[in-house]
Amino acid sequence: MEALPSLARLLLALTIFSSLSLLACSSSLQDLQIANAERRIDVTSHIIKVFLTLKVENTGTSPVSEVLLAFPPTQVDHIASLKAAVTIGKKKKKSYVPLEVNPTELPDAPNGTKYFKILLLNPLSAGETATLEVLYILTHSLEPFPAEISQSESQLVYYRDSAIILSPYYIKQQTTFIRTPSTKVESFTRVEPTTRAGTELKYGPYKDRPAYSYSPVLVHFENNSPFAVVEELVREVEISHWGSLQITEHYTLAHAGARHKGVFSRVDYQGRSSGVSSFKHLLARLPPRVHSVFYRDQIGNISSSHLRTDYRRTDLEIEPRYPLFGGWKATFLIGYGLPLQDFLFESPDGRRYLNFTFGCPLADTVVDKLTLKVVLPEGSKDPSAVVPFTVQQHLETKYSYLDVVGRTVVVLEKKNVVPEHNSPFQVYYSFNPVFMLAEPLMLISVFFFLFMASVAYLHVDFSISK
Ligand SMILES: *[C@@H]1O[C@H](CO)[C@@H](O)[C@H](O)[C@H]1NC(C)=O
Ligand SMILES: *[C@@H]1O[C@H](CO)[C@@H](O)[C@H](O)[C@H]1NC(C)=O
Ligand SMILES: *[C@@H]1O[C@H](CO)[C@@H](O)[C@H](O)[C@H]1NC(C)=O
Repeated sequence: MEALPSLARLLLALTIFSSLSLLACSSSLQDLQIANAERRIDVTSHIIKVFLTLKVENTGTSPVSEVLLAFPPTQVDHIASLKAAVTIGKKKKKSYVPLEVNPTELPDAPNGTKYFKILLLNPLSAGETATLEVLYILTHSLEPFPAEISQSESQLVYYRDSAIILSPYYIKQQTTFIRTPSTKVESFTRVEPTTRAGTELKYGPYKDRPAYSYSPVLVHFENNSPFAVVEELVREVEISHWGSLQITEHYTLAHAGARHKGVFSRVDYQGRSSGVSSFKHLLARLPPRVHSVFYRDQIGNISSSHLRTDYRRTDLEIEPRYPLFGGWKATFLIGYGLPLQDFLFESPDGRRYLNFTFGCPLADTVVDKLTLKVVLPEGSKDPSAVVPFTVQQHLETKYSYLDVVGRTVVVLEKKNVVPEHNSPFQVYYSFNPVFMLAEPLMLISVFFFLFMASVAYLHVDFSISK
């Protein structure tokens, strides 16, 4: 008889608790408002950088520990990287502390809005304000229009966004600046007040906009920066305990700008104002102390490359066999060696680790799909990778000549990679030095058998005429 009332009480308590937590959840959205927002959108290259400064204010009564960022569903798929930091101190003593950002979902998000959640270092108490700096990178967000141009034409593109920042919070005051590569702006949507000066387009200031305000704008402007997109990049980093790191990179490069119309004329191309949106040279930034560099395509070695080195880095300037116009592709291979002691270390627990740079060595390129393969020495065990952002991982086995049991390959995959992803990552593994002897032993036995075979051959008389 006692059981029933206590169950009822438990249910009641649960109901109260869940409705309370629902209240807490929904109220934190109303508790925050943005006192001031400033957004700077840089569309000078095909990799768009957006700097957003938010002055967040807690106008509620309870502390708030997270701030939401909202994006239209069409934009969220193009976000390659999103970072947030909080500013501490004022003026000259200002410093930035990075904050954790994670994608998140809200029930009944209007019009499919997508969210990212910024976790604050310390909860923002009632009445307090905090200044957040957000940087996000958009790729494939400039649409060439016209979609096809001839060799003598300049490239024009569309950029779409909202003049008013999409936010789940009330915004007291906001301004958006769009920086274009040149003063050649064909047209732009006006959402008063809108002003244009030089290469800068200013939307706002707008005052007192409710949550989820949205006002689409279209900017049509000239952009002749190289739209270099590596559709697929496979980088293989092979560790040999015999002193070197061998890197091989397979590129499928495309010009993602307006498609080339008509025939390509090399004579016209020599002229100055021709093929302004095409690109001829590419710069690969490699680590210092590289050796045995090669650069080749299906036809063979390409000699038109220049190597400049200093103690900090190596610049490899490569030139494909033909200039790349919109819609054109080139596939090629770059390979180089590096001294092992610059990249392979021993961790305090006795394991070895490779500390190398993720991303793509080509400057200002977007990589649609990057596969990074780290080939560990034969006999390596328990590999684990530490990468500062989410990547897909799996293991493979590679066999090359002289291998007895094969080599473990740590495969890391990431889509939508931009230069911001060129940061260090580590692959840890344990290694038994006995395996270092495997290769020489194999070599010795191969030579021994060859020797025995030749001795046998010399001693066998094949002649039939005696
Ligand atoms: C959703 O989209 C429709 C049509 O684009 C628009 O009229 C409406 O205001 C939007 N609703 C919200 C909450 O943004
Ligand atoms: C291409 O270059 C590599 C490295 O410089 C060299 O080993 C190879 O022999 C060259 N191949 C041809 C066909 O020239
Ligand atoms: C990896 O190398 C970078 C510099 O290239 C260095 O800043 C970082 O501390 C290294 N990480 C580890 C775990 O050794």
